Amino acid sequence: MTITPPALLLTGATGYIGRRLVPALQGPWRVFRASRTAAGEGALDLDLADSDSIRRAFDAAAPTVVIHAGGESDPDACEKDPDRAKRVNVDAVKTLGLLCGASGARLIHFSTDLVFDGERGWYTEDDAPNPGGVYARGKAASEEAALVRAPGATVLRISTAYGRPMGGRPGFVDSMRARLAAGEAVSAFTDQWRTSTAADQLPAVVAKLLADPDLGGVFHWGGAERATRFETAVTFARVMGFDENLIHPGRAVDATFASPRPRDSSLDSSRLAAAIGLAPLTYEVGFAALRGAWG
Ligand SMILES: NC(=O)c1ccc[n+]([C@@H]2O[C@H](COP(=O)([O-])OP(=O)(O)OC[C@H]3O[C@@H](n4cnc5c(N)ncnc54)[C@H](OP(=O)(O)O)[C@@H]3O)[C@@H](O)[C@H]2O)c1
Repeated sequence: MTITPPALLLTGATGYIGRRLVPALQGPWRVFRASRTAAGEGALDLDLADSDSIRRAFDAAAPTVVIHAGGESDPDACEKDPDRAKRVNVDAVKTLGLLCGASGARLIHFSTDLVFDGERGWYTEDDAPNPGGVYARGKAASEEAALVRAPGATVLRISTAYGRPMGGRPGFVDSMRARLAAGEAVSAFTDQWRTSTAADQLPAVVAKLLADPDLGGVFHWGGAERATRFETAVTFARVMGFDENLIHPGRAVDATFASPRPRDSSLDSSRLAAAIGLAPLTYEVGFAALRGAWG
């Protein structure tokens, strides 16, 4: 007798995070990969700006679990089109939350360190968000929508992610690596602190969340240590064997972005680490795992 695995709907399956989750999920789950450009077996058309499209994808998958890794992840794009950002990042989660709540499906929703104002840093799950800008306000609202509408939902806040190249959009390490490999200078902020998430660790973190339905509520998953963008870039250059002198100090206060960026949005991930028995990675270890990743 063949046992059919339970259905899992993964939004954002073509994204920086989503495409890393797919291989790990396939097997234990019958994965429906949903986005505007997902293709091949198990792909579903999904436009998060359209609630009917969300309902159609949900009905087609009839999922036991929804992992929501889709949305507009660029804060500047959200600032430029707040109406669209609201539909894609907030209203979509309201709809998904309702559908999960009504069907009993579990919702695991990706959120961001940027929900904090960055005035203090090293935030725990008990700290109150104070988002600035359209993207961050939308993500904070989406967390609330997920938790209220889908009982037992998990909100996983991550920091700026890095990982091996997997096609799709480049991450910050891809751009940095390309410049360093070409012998070009990289300017990195000395006044912006992050606890970057090792994206290639997320499949293991998500597997642990999936294994324990009691892990509902908000959790943080960043790196093990807080560092400035400058320190991070120097560590990357050193670990990858590039010239550290190509990293030049810059200041976020002198830069212009459409969307505000918190000064220090570092996340304390110790609560989830203790709950799932995994340790977040230091920059040194996370970057060392990327040696050779670009061929
Ligand atoms: N990567 C990070 O550093 C980071 C840090 C903190 C939080 N996060 C959060 O983690 C989640 C995943 O981020 P990511 O970096 O993987 O994002 P990403 O690389 O920008 O990918 C976004 C995904 O969402 C899909 N998408 C965008 N607009 C859509 C729409 N209107 N309808 C349907 N699908 C749409 C895209 O697929 P199509 O283009 O194929 O539709 C893509 O699969 C997001 O919630 C983000 O806020 C990410």
